[in-house]
Amino acid sequence: MEKKQKKTIKTLLPIVSFLKPYKAMVFFALMALLLTAAVSLSLGQGLKLVIDNGFAAGSVDNLRSAIFVMIGLVSLLAIGTFCRFYLMSWLGERVSADIRKAVFDRLVVLHPAYFEENRSGEIMSRLTTDTTLLQSIVGSSFSMALRSTLTFIGGIAMLFFTNVQLTLYILIGVPMAILPMMFFGKKVRKFSKDSQDTIADVGTYAGEIIQNIKVVQSYSREEQEKAAFSDEVEKAFETAKKRVRQRSILIASVILMVFGGLSAMMWVGGNGVISGAITGGELAAFVFYAMMVGMSAATIAEVYGELQRAAGAAERVVDLMAVESNILPPAKLEPLNDNAQKMIAFNDVSFSYPSRPDEFALKDINLTINRGEVVALVGPSGAGKTTLFELLERFYDPQQGNILFKDVNLKQLAPNKLRDEMALVPQNPILFSNDVWYNIRYGKSGAKDNEVIEAAKKAHAHDFVKTLPKGYESYLGEQGVRLSGGQKQRVALARAILKDPEVLLLDEATSALDAESEHHVQAALEELMKDRTTLIIAHRLSTVIHADKIVLLDKGEIIAMGSHQELLASSKLYQRLCELQFDLTGD
Ligand SMILES: Nc1ncnc2c1ncn2[C@@H]1O[C@H](COP(=O)(O)OP(=O)(O)OP(=O)(O)O)[C@@H](O)[C@H]1O
Ligand SMILES: [Mg+2]
Repeated sequence: MEKKQKKTIKTLLPIVSFLKPYKAMVFFALMALLLTAAVSLSLGQGLKLVIDNGFAAGSVDNLRSAIFVMIGLVSLLAIGTFCRFYLMSWLGERVSADIRKAVFDRLVVLHPAYFEENRSGEIMSRLTTDTTLLQSIVGSSFSMALRSTLTFIGGIAMLFFTNVQLTLYILIGVPMAILPMMFFGKKVRKFSKDSQDTIADVGTYAGEIIQNIKVVQSYSREEQEKAAFSDEVEKAFETAKKRVRQRSILIASVILMVFGGLSAMMWVGGNGVISGAITGGELAAFVFYAMMVGMSAATIAEVYGELQRAAGAAERVVDLMAVESNILPPAKLEPLNDNAQKMIAFNDVSFSYPSRPDEFALKDINLTINRGEVVALVGPSGAGKTTLFELLERFYDPQQGNILFKDVNLKQLAPNKLRDEMALVPQNPILFSNDVWYNIRYGKSGAKDNEVIEAAKKAHAHDFVKTLPKGYESYLGEQGVRLSGGQKQRVALARAILKDPEVLLLDEATSALDAESEHHVQAALEELMKDRTTLIIAHRLSTVIHADKIVLLDKGEIIAMGSHQELLASSKLYQRLCELQFDLTGD
């Protein structure tokens, strides 16, 4: 237990450092907390005053002044509580907002492989659930723990001050009441956590179904999905039922203990009042303090469990913030050689994805691409074409060999600087849930409206964008669901055109276009490829024929390289690809 507590405090420590910028707030919050604890304790004395000096003594004047004291104390308590609650909650919200930002700032610069090794749902829950838990720790649990500790200690002192003999009874009685409460409380907490987890499962399940509703309906799986979902919900209900039962027992036993204890106190204390050993006011004050001590003890026990849960959350968040990106800029940056003739060179590059270390996605790749060249990458599905692009953008580092960009090893460049030189139009165009302006401007933040329109025109997107309900202001839906595949590609192309990079990476950029728009886009691409080094993963003959060089990949290896005619003459696989994919009739 002792060891665990140490760990709890230690894991929460990094969170405390988030409070540093708000020292003044923390100071005033602590002051308010001290004030309210002191005032709550003095309320018992006020009560004693009202009873003994007031109605027990039969003096209206005394009663009046005692009541005034009470009103003064209560007002002070109200003001103090307002300040304490406001400041503490403010701090909780502030810290959790800062933590969220810090976690996100870390996430966006992490190497992409991290997101393959870790489930996205889990990462998301660190951003939302875990930070919310930490918010409640800073904003309420911490303050509750501190306040309860103060009132607990102060309350016991006041008990002794009021009546020693009764206090000794209490000190024996209270632990007897607290122990079973702690036992049931622990169970309740365990069940609430289980309950939360099962609810999260329900959410995940429903989320997946809703996202893929068209697949569900097209395979007529509604009934099965209903049944499967119902199972999930029932599981959650069963867990919730256990929690509810424990909680009911807890509440019932608390009531029994508290009022049983109170009655015992009244019996002993009442006898004391009758025999004249203590005054009625003293007994009232005593009961008041006893209840205060009991409540504080219960709060401390509850908060302790919460702190442990938060320690887990803190640990996960801190872990996440400590992850270092595998793709880092070097200590000493090399300048790019802007006159280099060789734009890109792969030297003996072999690479396997971190999630599949035994299998080469690329093997012994040697490839040089000169300034201004248009190089087509062709090959069967899974050959490693897209992987080649990912290495060029330095989303991963190869295990063997090296890649040069303008004569400099990629590892000697700042990743951002490298990526600024290229524009990638990916196989599945990625659009954000925003309007057309936003999505095209993603290529160059701060681009003027006419630049965006110019790029859209070059990508042959302008005409269809104009026909959208709100033109460039049209909202495209989540991941651009409101556009057709070909339209999405043209928006993605416009984004790349707007970036105006030196190197263009196109991954099957023309594959989802009809013949008419393909012709347009082809013309746009040719214009775009002028004075630019271009790598195209091509599935179309028109692209392949215009390339300066064709690279044929299969199973991660380059098996042939040359012009269209050369490859047709030399490579069986290329011949077959041409027949199957490029529909060679007539050429
Ligand atoms: N993130 C990943 N993790 C593990 N393996 C991967 C990953 N991405 C691709 N692969 C594997 O690497 C190999 C090459 O994939 P790649 O995407 O480069 O193929 P491709 O040539 O682009 O194919 P296609 O023409 O179908 O797009 C495949 O065997 C694939 O299964
Ligand atoms: Mg691919």
